[in-house]
Amino acid sequence: MSEFPHLRLRRNRKADWSRRLVRESVLTADDLIWTMVISDSGKAAEPVPSMPGVNRLSIDEAVIAARHAEKLGIPAIALFPHVNPAVKNADGAEALNADGLVPETVRAIKAATSNLGVIVDVALDPFTDHGHDGIMIGEIIDNDSTVERLAEAALVLAEAGADVVAPSDMMDGRVGAIRVALEAAGHKDVQIMSYAAKYASAFYGPYRDAIGTSTALVGDKRTYQMDPANHSEALREVALDILEGADMIMVKPGLPYLDIIARLKDEYAMPTFAFQVSGEYAMIMAAAQNGWIDEKRVILESLTSFKRAGCDGILTYFAPRAAQWLSER
Ligand code: PBG
Repeated sequence: MSEFPHLRLRRNRKADWSRRLVRESVLTADDLIWTMVISDSGKAAEPVPSMPGVNRLSIDEAVIAARHAEKLGIPAIALFPHVNPAVKNADGAEALNADGLVPETVRAIKAATSNLGVIVDVALDPFTDHGHDGIMIGEIIDNDSTVERLAEAALVLAEAGADVVAPSDMMDGRVGAIRVALEAAGHKDVQIMSYAAKYASAFYGPYRDAIGTSTALVGDKRTYQMDPANHSEALREVALDILEGADMIMVKPGLPYLDIIARLKDEYAMPTFAFQVSGEYAMIMAAAQNGWIDEKRVILESLTSFKRAGCDGILTYFAPRAAQWLSER
């Protein structure tokens, strides 16, 4: 007998103990990567207007935040730099500065923590005056010279002690070039988390505010980031990155791309991550601050959805708050 009234799906939902028993995905602090914005302004925490609750942190504050993350059981943090416009130039040379904001912060955090992974973006856009993720030749973002520069930048970050480098540029061949450079320099244990399927998304708007890149460019990275309409292409991007030596793959943005995450996890069985980006953060916070949604429940529901879709972890600005709530359960 498998029909109503013999079959009543509500039976398993009747009580908390029973719901816990049949629950299929569980979110824990182990799933969270705290995306942290750092600044070289020398000032104390500077709020990012479009991301209420997110501050640009000085190096000292980032160290305190990193210790806090470790205490909360968050396995890793990911750093995103806001640098003085005076150090930006056309080819993002600051990405190679071994004493720049990111390497300094990595060294300080590694010295102050013992069991916290430090992930850094390998990217030129925080350091280029035009805000693109590559070196421009005329109007074109030049793939191959950008890849060379990214491989050098990855080495600088690995030397500083980064545990994971995360190329976020979407140039062709960058994962392979970074892997070869790391191996040649003896950094054989540095992991590569590749922004494998990164879409040309309008959801990055507040991020460009956070790290101070040219807003004139928003939405104009379509010659390298993926078309939001595409699905099969994500499979090809990931296949390529796996062959080139990625240890972990990432999909970005997050919630609007859960179909991609689920498919990639099924197809490749790779450690798979989602980036819940700045615009997703801003939408939830805007509605919460208006009293239109329940902030805590919506945040935890969104993070659980990533687990249900097959994610091993989520890069999120909500990480410290979520970890705190999870520890209180
Ligand atoms: C670019 C980069 C971006 C983000 C992380 N790395 C923006 C972009 O591609 O324009 C976005 C993060 C966010 O929106 O939270 N290297």
